[in-house]
Amino acid sequence: MKKIGFLTSGGDCQSLNATMRGVAKTLYQTYPDVEIYGILEGYKGLIYGNYRKMKPSDFSGILTEGGTIIGTSRQPFKKMREPDENGLDKVEAMKSNYKKWGLDCLVILGGNGTHKTANLLSEESLNVVTLPKTIDNDIWGTDITFGFQSAVNIATNAIDCIHTTAASHSRVFIVEVMGHKVGWLTLHAGIAGGADIILLPEIPYDIDSVVAALDKRTKEGKQFSILAVAEGAISKEDAALSKKELKAKRKENPYPSISYQIGKEIEERTGQEVRITVPGHMQRGGEPCPYDRVISSRLGAAAARLIIKEKYGYMVGFKNGEIVPVPLGEVAGKLKMVDPDSSIIKEAKGLGICFGD
Ligand code: F6P
Repeated sequence: MKKIGFLTSGGDCQSLNATMRGVAKTLYQTYPDVEIYGILEGYKGLIYGNYRKMKPSDFSGILTEGGTIIGTSRQPFKKMREPDENGLDKVEAMKSNYKKWGLDCLVILGGNGTHKTANLLSEESLNVVTLPKTIDNDIWGTDITFGFQSAVNIATNAIDCIHTTAASHSRVFIVEVMGHKVGWLTLHAGIAGGADIILLPEIPYDIDSVVAALDKRTKEGKQFSILAVAEGAISKEDAALSKKELKAKRKENPYPSISYQIGKEIEERTGQEVRITVPGHMQRGGEPCPYDRVISSRLGAAAARLIIKEKYGYMVGFKNGEIVPVPLGEVAGKLKMVDPDSSIIKEAKGLGICFGD
């Protein structure tokens, strides 16, 4: 009898349950008596031995349910090799629970940090299959991650709502979109929401360019402007600093986030009134959009097929619309970032969108 452990790790997203359902339903078709262990709260459950045995009924009715039915937590990869506060060796503890429970494979759903630990476990000879989860769409080795499209819809909706009020009041509005290191979500929501200025971590901005773009709009008779700003947007000046210098500068920074700093600078430079909206964790909440439900079901089925074939050590990803297994060693430790020279950026610039560069 097969025993499979499911684990969801890192920040959640809308489509985790839909993905687990895809894996489970496909496994139950082939192995009606498969035992699924729901490992609770991500790697924490694997380290401390917390799980619950799942039943087929646990996977019914969850296609449209956001969050994760087995909980999640952030367990930083860089601390995995460090003992916990009681001296417990976390990696050994995970290996030992895996063996104690008699698992044939771990199915791990997560983002970048999660993949580093998944690769570590695979290198430690555990059987691992992973699935690419994140609203950030920044996992290397896959064109798309599940959760991304649902978050794009929410962030776009936030910009859409802002549009009507911005037009009535003749103001500048900033919508801050999630994404500390990468700007996929801001880029897609910004284009979809018709933002005039999009600022991404990958394209450091010059406030002069931002102000020039706003002035141009005013001269053209435009009553309002909307900026889609990634959480991790960074000025050219700050991007030129060393990590240490940047850390020290940020300690002194009085603003709650980059949008507030940009907003203040815009007000001072243009005299226009600025308002800031931060949809925050709403972007990870609610139900998965139909597109995510489809890719989650497909990726889940593909992950189950790998398990059936006993092909371990892979993430299932999308390449040009097809599902491909990608070796974990290739995925771990890399980020898929927005290329400033890519066609999507060129097309957006062609539409007149300013990226502050
Ligand atoms: O990794 C997804 C993400 O939503 C990022 O876009 C965001 O910066 C971060 O998680 C927020 O993390 P937390 O759940 O720790 O607030």
